[in-house]
Amino acid sequence: MEKKKNERMLWLAVLFVCFQLTASFQNQLKASFRYQSSIISKTRTSVIHRYETYRDITLIHLYIPQHTLFASFKFTGDETRMSIFACKPRDVSLYMKYGAPPVINPDDSTFPKDFKNITRSKLHHIEFMTDNKDQYINLTSPYPGWYYVAVFLSYVNPKFSAITQQGLGPSCYANVEALLYVEKISNPLIVSENHLMEVISISNTSRYFKTYITDDYDHALIQVETIDLAPNVESMKIRIDVGKPSSQNTFIAAKSFYSNSNDTSITFWTVPGSWHYIEIVFESEKELSSISSKATFRLKRFSNLIENLDEYQFLSNKAYFNNSITKIYRNRSLSTLIPYKQYALVRDGLSDTFTFSFVLESEMQHNTIIPVNMTNDHFSAFKFSIRDGTEIGGTLQFIMAFKPRLRRIDKAVSFESEPKSNVIVACLSRYVMELPVWPNKCVTRNSERTSELILNSTVENSTILVPYPELGTWYATFKLFCHNCSSCNCPENCQDSFNACVDACELDCDISCQDCITNCSRALIETEECKGCDCDGPCLRKGAPSCNSSIVYDISSRQCISGQCSPNGLCRFMVSDGVVFSTCNCINKYRGKLH
Ligand SMILES: *[C@@H]1O[C@H](CO)[C@@H](O)[C@H](O)[C@H]1NC(C)=O
Ligand SMILES: *[C@@H]1O[C@H](CO)[C@@H](O)[C@H](O)[C@H]1NC(C)=O
Ligand SMILES: *[C@@H]1O[C@H](CO)[C@@H](O)[C@H](O)[C@H]1NC(C)=O
Ligand SMILES: *[C@@H]1O[C@H](CO)[C@@H](O)[C@H](O)[C@H]1NC(C)=O
Ligand SMILES: *[C@@H]1O[C@H](CO)[C@@H](O)[C@H](O)[C@H]1NC(C)=O
Ligand SMILES: *[C@@H]1O[C@H](CO)[C@@H](O)[C@H](O)[C@H]1NC(C)=O
Ligand SMILES: *[C@@H]1O[C@H](CO)[C@@H](O)[C@H](O)[C@H]1NC(C)=O
Ligand SMILES: *[C@@H]1O[C@H](CO)[C@@H](O)[C@H](O)[C@H]1NC(C)=O
Ligand SMILES: *[C@@H]1O[C@H](CO)[C@@H](O)[C@H](O)[C@H]1NC(C)=O
Ligand SMILES: *[C@@H]1O[C@H](CO)[C@@H](O)[C@H](O)[C@H]1NC(C)=O
Ligand SMILES: *[C@@H]1O[C@H](CO)[C@@H](O)[C@H](O)[C@H]1NC(C)=O
Ligand SMILES: *[C@@H]1O[C@H](CO)[C@@H](O)[C@H](O)[C@H]1NC(C)=O
Repeated sequence: MEKKKNERMLWLAVLFVCFQLTASFQNQLKASFRYQSSIISKTRTSVIHRYETYRDITLIHLYIPQHTLFASFKFTGDETRMSIFACKPRDVSLYMKYGAPPVINPDDSTFPKDFKNITRSKLHHIEFMTDNKDQYINLTSPYPGWYYVAVFLSYVNPKFSAITQQGLGPSCYANVEALLYVEKISNPLIVSENHLMEVISISNTSRYFKTYITDDYDHALIQVETIDLAPNVESMKIRIDVGKPSSQNTFIAAKSFYSNSNDTSITFWTVPGSWHYIEIVFESEKELSSISSKATFRLKRFSNLIENLDEYQFLSNKAYFNNSITKIYRNRSLSTLIPYKQYALVRDGLSDTFTFSFVLESEMQHNTIIPVNMTNDHFSAFKFSIRDGTEIGGTLQFIMAFKPRLRRIDKAVSFESEPKSNVIVACLSRYVMELPVWPNKCVTRNSERTSELILNSTVENSTILVPYPELGTWYATFKLFCHNCSSCNCPENCQDSFNACVDACELDCDISCQDCITNCSRALIETEECKGCDCDGPCLRKGAPSCNSSIVYDISSRQCISGQCSPNGLCRFMVSDGVVFSTCNCINKYRGKLH
C-alpha cells in the first residue's frame, strides 16, 4: 500500500512537472496516449469497363496520412439500371499498389523482356462482384502516401465468351465506391540525439516517439538508462519501424528490457532521410493496473561517412571521383566492410510529359557524358528521386555499358577490348540501397535476390525497364569484380569478438563514434586467427589482383517504352482521377503482347 502511494505521488510529481512545461508540449504528451480513428475519404469511380487492354482500367488514388497504425479500404461494386431489364452482378477485378499505378496483365499477355520486377511495393488484388457487398483491404502499419487502385470489369478471354446479341440485352452501368478509414496515433514526441527522454505509461499502452535520420547515418542505438516497472509489469518492450509507427507484428527491430538485466541497449539499421518511430510499451500478462511504469533512454546515431581518406588513398583522387561522397557499407559482419562512392544525380528534364533523365552535376554543367570510374575495391551508388505524382506514369530505364577503351599510340587511336575477367554486377532499388555481391546477388541487411543486370565483355550493354516507377528515393549501385573468388573463411569466434568489441565501443564512445566498426575490424583482421575475415562479400580480399574500369550509363524516364510502342501500338496518355499515365494502345486489332 505504502509503495503504491509513493508511486502515485511520484506520478503526480511528474505530472506537476509536465504542467510547468509549455502548453503545446503538454498537449502533445497527453495526446500521444490516444488513437484517432476516422473515415478520411470516399471516391466513386465513373462507369467501369470490361478489360481488354490497360487503357480500359479506371484508376483512382487514395491518401494514407502520416502516423497511421491501421488503414481499411472498403470497396463496393454496384450496377445502375439504364433500361427496363434487370441487371445481373458482374465480376470486378481490383489491384492496389503503394506509390504508383499497378503493373498488371490480367489477359496473361507477356511483358517486354526488359521489364524487371525489382523491389516493388506489394500488389494487392481482390476479385468481387457488383452486388453491393463490402470488400476490404486492411493494412496494419501502412506506409503513408498515395495508394493507386486500378479497377475494371474482369477480363474475359474472347475465345471462351459467348457472342452476345447486340441491342436487346440489359443496359447496365457498373461503378465501384472506395472508402478509406484510418486509425492514427497522434503526433509522436521527437527524440534528438543524446537527449535524455522519459517515458511514463500504464501497462499495455503504447507510447510513440520519432527521430529523423539524415543521409549520413546508417545505424542508431537506444540505450535504456533507468527502468522503474510497476507491480505486475514484467518488461519494457521497444519496437522500431521506419516511416510508419510500429505495431505488434510490424517492426524492423524489437527487444524486451528487464529491470535486473545489464543488457540495456538496442541497435538498429536506419534508412537515410526517414523518420524512425520508437514504440515503448510496458508489458503485463496479469491484470492491468492504473499504476504507471517509468523509464529513461537516450538515442545515439552512427555516421558512415569516411572523412579521413588516409586509409583509402585510391578514393581520394578528386579528378577520378568528382562530385562524390565517400561512405562505408557495413552490416555487422566482420567480413562486410566496403567503401563506396555516392553520387547525387540531378534531374534534367524536358517539358514533354514523363521525359527526364538523371545525370551527374558535372555532366549538366559541361553538357557531355562523363564516365563513372570504378575499381574492384569499392562500389558506386547513384541516388535519385522520383518526386511526385507527375513523374510516375512513364517507364524508368537504366542502361549501362563499359566505356570504350581508347588507346593512343602516337597519333593513331585504337579500341581495346574490355578485359575478359571484368564483370559488373548492378542493382536498382527503391528506398533501401542494395549491395552488389559476387557473383550475381543484390543484398540488403535482411534480404537477398538475383541481380538483373550483369555486364561482362561479351554483353556490351544491359537494360532494366521499370514501368510506373514508385515515388521515393532510388539507388542504382554497381560493383566491379575481376578475379576468381577464393571463398571467405571467417572463424565464428572472430565474428563474436567483433560484435563484443563494437557493442562496447558504441556504448562508450563520445566523439568519433563512426570509427568503432572500422577500429574493431582493423584490430581483429591484423591478428593471425582472423586474417581470413578480410573479405569482399563471399570472396577473400587479400591478395586479389586490382583492376579498374569505367562505365557510361543512362537513367531516364520515357513515355511507354523508350517513348514508343511496337509497330502495332501507339503510345497514349490516359488520365483518370487526375493521374496521368502512358500506355500502349494496340492498333490493327493486334492483341497478345503488351509491346
Ligand atoms: C477490415 O477492417 C474492417 C473495419 O474497418 C472490418 O470490419 C473487416 O472485418 C476487416 N476485414 C478483414 C478481412 O480483416
Ligand atoms: C513480382 O514479384 C512479386 C513478389 O515480389 C510476385 O508476386 C509477382 O508475381 C512478380 N511479378 C512478375 C510479373 O514477375
Ligand atoms: C551482467 O554482466 C556480467 C558481465 O559483464 C555477467 O557476468 C552477468 O551475468 C550479467 N548479468 C545479467 C543479469 O545479465
Ligand atoms: C498485454 O499485452 C500482451 C501482449 O500483447 C498480452 O499477451 C497480454 O495478455 C496483455 N495483458 C492484458 C492484461 O491484457
Ligand atoms: C573518371 O575519370 C576521368 C578521367 O580518367 C574523368 O574525366 C572523369 O571526370 C571521371 N569521372 C567522374 C565521375 O569523376
Ligand atoms: C568537378 O565537377 C565540377 C562541376 O560539378 C567542375 O567544375 C570541376 O572542374 C570538376 N573537377 C574535376 C577535377 O574534374
Ligand atoms: C557474359 O555473360 C553472359 C550472360 O550472363 C554469359 O553467357 C557469358 O558467358 C559471359 N561472358 C564471359 C566472358 O564471362
Ligand atoms: C546495346 O547493344 C546492342 C548490341 O549488343 C546494340 O544493338 C544496341 O544499340 C546497344 N544499345 C545501347 C544503348 O548502347
Ligand atoms: C580462375 O580460375 C580458373 C579455373 O578455376 C583458371 O583457369 C583461371 O586461370 C583463373 N583466373 C585467374 C585470373 O586467376
Ligand atoms: C579509432 O582509432 C583511432 C586511431 O587508430 C583513434 O584515434 C580513435 O579514437 C578510435 N576510435 C574509437 C571510437 O575508439
Ligand atoms: C552481411 O553481408 C554478407 C554478404 O555480404 C552476408 O553473408 C551476411 O549474412 C550479412 N550479415 C548480416 C548480419 O546481415
Ligand atoms: C587502372 O588499371 C590499369 C591497369 O589495368 C593501370 O595502368 C591504371 O593505372 C589504373 N588506373 C587507376 C586510376 O588506378
